[in-house]
Amino acid sequence: AKITLQPKKSKPISTLLTGVFFEDINYAADGGLYAEMIQNRDFEYKTSDKSDNDKNWNSMHSWALKGEKASITIDSLAPIHPNNLHYAVIETRLPGAALINAGFDGIAIKKGDSYNFSAFLKNFKGKATELEVCLVSDKIGVIAKSKLKISVQNWKQLTTQLISSADAVDAKLEIRLINAGKIAFDMVSLFPQKTFNGHKNGLRPDLAQAIAAIHPRFVRFPGGCVAHGDGIENIYKWKNSIGPLESRKPDRNLWGYHQTMGLGYFEYFQFCEDIGAAPVPVIAAGVPCQNSSTGGGGQQGGIPMAEMEKYIQDIIDLVEYANGPVTSTWGKKRAEAGHPKPFNLKYIGIGNEDQITEVFKERFTLIYHALKKAHPEITIIGSAGPFFEGTDYVEGWKIASDLQVPLIDEHYYQSPGWFINNQDFYDNYDRNKSKIYLGEYAASLPGGNKTNLETALAEALYLTSLERNGDVVSMASYAPLIAKVGHTQWNPDLIYFNNSEVMPTTGYFVQQLYGQNAGDTYIPSQINLSTTEENVSKRIAYSIVRDSKTNDLIIKLVNLLPVTVNTSFNFNEIGVLNVKAAKTVITGNPVDKNTKPIVSEINISAETPLDLPAYSFTVLRLKTK
Ligand code: AHR
Repeated sequence: AKITLQPKKSKPISTLLTGVFFEDINYAADGGLYAEMIQNRDFEYKTSDKSDNDKNWNSMHSWALKGEKASITIDSLAPIHPNNLHYAVIETRLPGAALINAGFDGIAIKKGDSYNFSAFLKNFKGKATELEVCLVSDKIGVIAKSKLKISVQNWKQLTTQLISSADAVDAKLEIRLINAGKIAFDMVSLFPQKTFNGHKNGLRPDLAQAIAAIHPRFVRFPGGCVAHGDGIENIYKWKNSIGPLESRKPDRNLWGYHQTMGLGYFEYFQFCEDIGAAPVPVIAAGVPCQNSSTGGGGQQGGIPMAEMEKYIQDIIDLVEYANGPVTSTWGKKRAEAGHPKPFNLKYIGIGNEDQITEVFKERFTLIYHALKKAHPEITIIGSAGPFFEGTDYVEGWKIASDLQVPLIDEHYYQSPGWFINNQDFYDNYDRNKSKIYLGEYAASLPGGNKTNLETALAEALYLTSLERNGDVVSMASYAPLIAKVGHTQWNPDLIYFNNSEVMPTTGYFVQQLYGQNAGDTYIPSQINLSTTEENVSKRIAYSIVRDSKTNDLIIKLVNLLPVTVNTSFNFNEIGVLNVKAAKTVITGNPVDKNTKPIVSEINISAETPLDLPAYSFTVLRLKTK
């Protein structure tokens, strides 16, 4: 095939095209990106967090007590904060009792690293009592130890540092009571000293780094379904996720576990800033998820209309929290959290994949008008609703067009074949209507092994079509982003992890290659293929963009055929320098998992031949004049 570039037909494309979708699904936040190592640190787990009413899912989950003549009770009298009602009381008549936390599948500790322990404590007897805080590995024994003294009868936060003498993945936290006594514990916390960018209450560096390495232009949070929740009560309320940790209001996670809100809106904004990505919060459109188990779904009802004014004010307050001056009510709270400068919020999504019922429309319209009036500088993203083939978002698009919503969020999870066959999905979208945010998509296979090289290549191929339509597709994010092995509610995901390892899929490298090789101008080109067979030609796709900041030309080519395809480029019109180009290739057997990119260099001349291996994704990056 011969590819002739047509730079005269170039068009500007979105500079926000690829980003990430972060949702607390698959233990992505608690037990995942959020670096807290203690599970159920606030003793707030409740049986009602779980749809199966698991009786072990209670305030004692992940906790155990060791010691003779020692007892543990869960109390709620005079808590640290009304939002954090429960705490544990240990009473022991003999020295040596210990409160133990098993972490999230154990605690992974590195030799020589420091860990910050903190807890709110209350000593009922008032007589000074010593505590020994230890990290204990089943296999090795005690690997870190430190002491604390507690004498006060009122809640007091005490801290100490632990330095580990060994590596372990099976550690537990043991708080030993050296003396007999009665002590209350709450917000028992252990953080690695090393968090991403060194923030207090920060993120796991390896996972955060893996996300940052995609070079996402935006981060969507906190979902997904988590954003609109399982019933009205469970709608994610950003105000419950900010402020001192002990005052945040934990909630049931609709994916069947518990949200501490430790990773809350402040931390999301901070992460976006750290990695140079635009924050894209998604707020419920006044209706919960239509699949709500509580029966309060989109069909049946949303937030009562009488309460909508308050709900809308919360959304308007979010803009003040993110962008307002430190003298404003909510800007002040941001400053108190350590960030006086604004977070530069520009986008807010309203609604997530909701069924577009009358209940939805009424509430969406109210929110849309009010937010637009209060903050015309914010770009509002509407929801296209669930994707049903044949009815392609008819209702969602109708309301978006009626209200002239600037951007609309589409979602689809499909087979590789669907992505190959629908690569023209946006070619004929009306350029005068709302622009697109493809907020969730993934190619997946039926059965256990849902991703492999073939799914990754189907995504790479589809992404060429998103670049080609980068004038109408403004943003796109693969979903879901991360998943803890053994705790997945959704497959496939882009990155799998456990407590000590990060395991990116091949699809991750595709996202990374797009993120790291984005452009702001699309350069059309003509391809002469030796075949007119549609089944064959659909399996070859490419896109050419230019990054005006570096003057680099980036060519992405996908070959989903079982044979090598010989191509050559005619660079005559583009003024390419006779230089070496960076060449990155992902290739292998379509059923392979975990295929990694291989980087090399090639010489570029006016007519450059390039072989695309069978089942491959190739990215060329070269300088132009
Ligand atoms: O990405 C997983 C889920 O898929 C999201 O929470 C939801 O929006 C969609 O149905």
